[in-house]
Amino acid sequence: MTHISSEQTMKAFGQHIGSLLHGGEVIELVGDVGAGKTTFVKGLALGLDIDEDIQSPSFTISRTYDARDDLRLVHYDFYRLDDAGIMKAELQESVNDTGVVTVIEWADIASDVLPNSRLTLQIIPTSETEREVTVSPVGDRAEIIAGTLV
Ligand SMILES: Nc1ncnc2c1ncn2[C@@H]1O[C@H](COP(=O)(O)OP(=O)(O)OP(=O)(O)O)[C@@H](O)[C@H]1O
Ligand SMILES: [Mg+2]
Repeated sequence: MTHISSEQTMKAFGQHIGSLLHGGEVIELVGDVGAGKTTFVKGLALGLDIDEDIQSPSFTISRTYDARDDLRLVHYDFYRLDDAGIMKAELQESVNDTGVVTVIEWADIASDVLPNSRLTLQIIPTSETEREVTVSPVGDRAEIIAGTLV
């Protein structure tokens, strides 16, 4: 469990993980509304040298950003969707693309498309500004990344 003391620390945490990514990784973000999932992704984007502003993809379901080293970040948010529909096929394509880093909020509805090999982060607010993050890695890549976190 990692203690995060501020929004800025959450971004730094995301940036650290983002800086380690080399494509093909899948990151699932678990946590309630306002937990800080999208805030984490803003940090992740810094570590991927993305200069665009990360916006919550709630209405478009996914957003794609150009990143360093010819990588792309694809950010999904399936919040309140009853049926993932065609987005499920898109998600499947993303997770199988070694040039893509895939990050997903509210993944339950599409969980059958998520690979077992992934980094799952659960974010729990413990005060207005503090969060506890539990990192669950499955697979070699995820375990290496998790191993750099203290
Ligand atoms: N330590 C922290 N880490 C992350 N966010 C924090 C922290 N402290 C305060 N916040 C605030 O909490 C809010 C988190 O919002 P954010 O959009 O990241 O949540 P979310 O988990 O993506 O929610 P949703 O499920 O609605 O998409 C922001 O307003 C942010 O400023
Ligand atoms: Mg969000």
